[in-house]
Amino acid sequence: MLILGIETSCDETAAAVVRDGCEVKSNIIASQILLHSSYGGVVPELASRAHIQRIMPVADEALKHAGVASGDIDAIAVTLGPGLIGSLLVGVEYAKALSYSWHKPLIAVHHIAGHLFTPFLEIGSAASKTEHLKANDTASGTNLKSADFKSGEKEKLASSHKKTLRHPYIGLVISGGHSSIILVREPGVYEVIGETIDDAAGEAYDKVAKLLNLGYPGGPVIDKLAAKGNPNSIKFPRPLFKSNDLNFSFSGLKTAVMKYIKDEGLDKIKESEIRLCDVAASFQEAVIDSLLNKTGRALDEHKISQLAIVGGVACNKGLRASAMRMFGEDNTFIPPPILCTDNAAMIAGLSYFLKDKIQAGRMDLDACADLALDYINLGIFSK
Ligand code: KG4
Ligand code: ZN
Repeated sequence: MLILGIETSCDETAAAVVRDGCEVKSNIIASQILLHSSYGGVVPELASRAHIQRIMPVADEALKHAGVASGDIDAIAVTLGPGLIGSLLVGVEYAKALSYSWHKPLIAVHHIAGHLFTPFLEIGSAASKTEHLKANDTASGTNLKSADFKSGEKEKLASSHKKTLRHPYIGLVISGGHSSIILVREPGVYEVIGETIDDAAGEAYDKVAKLLNLGYPGGPVIDKLAAKGNPNSIKFPRPLFKSNDLNFSFSGLKTAVMKYIKDEGLDKIKESEIRLCDVAASFQEAVIDSLLNKTGRALDEHKISQLAIVGGVACNKGLRASAMRMFGEDNTFIPPPILCTDNAAMIAGLSYFLKDKIQAGRMDLDACADLALDYINLGIFSK
């Protein structure tokens, strides 16, 4: 069964074709990072406008790259939420239009549930293509015809694909908008057992990068600097480290970094590469410690051995290495970076396993900015 997935919940316009839930035939992403970088974060209006301009070419490219025609597609899957409402609307309305005109069922998918599914995807390096929209691309829309999709040259298959993830497992979801620990019982059945009480981990990276004038998004640049710094040079706090729950908090850590920069002086820190790298490494160590400490406790408390780490922050090299060390390579599943950040393969893939659980093809679907993870059980979509 071939499913075309559509994902537009934040700042990536993505479409993918996936066979039988796991085999990724194409994974096309138009990234808006360059559009938003000068603003230090995602500008919702710019994001929705860019989605409108890119959604059709991106979906066409997904079919073309998979070597299939619209008639070969058996169903359409779309991210219904959560996310930015203007961005979600573009994908949902486009998917409804395709479903109506192609006479194919439409399956609504939860964005976080999609991330949690990513370790099951099998992807070769040739399946992914990314296009980076530039700052002037949305101004007129005129130069958008010459799409410049680049193949995912260096994306390696995650070693996790040689082992098998089984339900139930613990999912650590860490992205720009979410940080939670979720017990995944089966596709569509989730239990949130821990979450951030303030900022998300990715948000903390982005805010600290902004304080250090390092641009947006902050994760990749801090990750690079951290690799050259001493993680023990500055003792930043690990809020909630000793609390008896499985929750996180990153806002106090961000404030501690802010105070450190204020006390030491940004110019002085940036004057010396070593000092900048030490700040990045010490901040990153605090984030990794906080995330993995509670994750370890979740695995123990629920007597589960297998762990999946997903979402944009799962790209982080330091975190990937620490998690593998702490929980063991055999039990730790982290997808390749191209599947950690937002993509539509995860939406198409999971939808295959939800198709018999939910009522598909509803034309009264509405994008939902704060869609609940257990939306399937809320009665709206149940069969
Ligand atoms: O999952 P994602 O693409 O979008 C959301 O759903 O939020 O995650 C984006 C977040 C950003 O905050 C970005 O700074 C962070 O993931 N990120 C990283 C790295 N690459 C991206 N954080 C830490 N280290 C990285 N290498
Ligand atoms: Zn995401």
